[in-house]
Amino acid sequence: MKVFVTRMIPQDGLRLLKEMFEVEIFEHDRPITKKELLEQARGSDGLLCLLTDKIDEEIIDVLGIKAIANYAVGVDNIDIKAATERKIPVTNTPGVLTEATADLTFALILAVSRRIVEADKYVRDGNFKGWEPMELLGGDFSGKTLGIIGLGRIGQAVARRAKGFGMNIIYHSQSPKEDIESELNAIKVTFEDLILSSDYITIHCPYTPETHHMIGIEEFRKMKSSAYLINTARGKVIDETSLLLALEEKLIAGIGLDVYYNEPEINSKIFGYSNVVVLPHIGSASIETRTKMSLMAAKDLIAALAGKKPPNLVNAEVFD
Ligand code: GLV
Ligand code: GLV
Repeated sequence: MKVFVTRMIPQDGLRLLKEMFEVEIFEHDRPITKKELLEQARGSDGLLCLLTDKIDEEIIDVLGIKAIANYAVGVDNIDIKAATERKIPVTNTPGVLTEATADLTFALILAVSRRIVEADKYVRDGNFKGWEPMELLGGDFSGKTLGIIGLGRIGQAVARRAKGFGMNIIYHSQSPKEDIESELNAIKVTFEDLILSSDYITIHCPYTPETHHMIGIEEFRKMKSSAYLINTARGKVIDETSLLLALEEKLIAGIGLDVYYNEPEINSKIFGYSNVVVLPHIGSASIETRTKMSLMAAKDLIAALAGKKPPNLVNAEVFD
């Protein structure tokens, strides 16, 4: 059987795949185009793809693949419905990137509120003339309220870090998480209350039709003017026009972004604001995490192509 891998990933997973299959890897240092994917992966049995690959119905049909392993936890890049209808298992990489993504989220929280990027530039530009009583003042964490939208694995890992910083934790989630509430003194609130009362708001829900534009101008207007917003989930959870307006009207104190509305395009107006920290979607980008993701994706693909239920199956209906 043949497996097509859309981009070079850590060798550990590739090695496993090569023991079992003929493996073809798209070798260029950029995402594969749809045209290239349709030409080069045609006739492959398995596809190992990235979140930068849009796997639509046409691709699924033309390639004739039997299993898809997404090298990401989010699967909004794949037409899951089309895959499920064709009994094609789709897998993702949950769990292994939880801590890395929570770390990066906290790095953004710290960077935005303590103005780390601005301060670094200040020093490099030769502005540091001695200790300043009124320069580069930011926000505190201790005693402040962190609002977590989506208390899944990553949201919970962020909550654990926040507890260490002495923050109060509130969350909005589809389902109550009672065990976590007692472990972390986290309080479930309505979405509106979270928006109104958080000093820091961090997004950890998947991107779905329900979470599309969950944060728009109305939400920005309700936020505290001293609030910070962090997004390490998916760009389209925030309405981009509203985000730009919120910056222009100084509706909140700062924004930390790892993901964007139309990745990799970024509306360049964002760069004009020094209270925004922008990262290039690096939530899972640690050596250990990416290695684990490659192994997980490979093992799932091996199981799926052997007709077994893969451990990290997204569309359970396929095996019903
Ligand atoms: C990264 O964004 C992922 O979904 O794994
Ligand atoms: C993702 O893995 C999540 O559950 O937060």
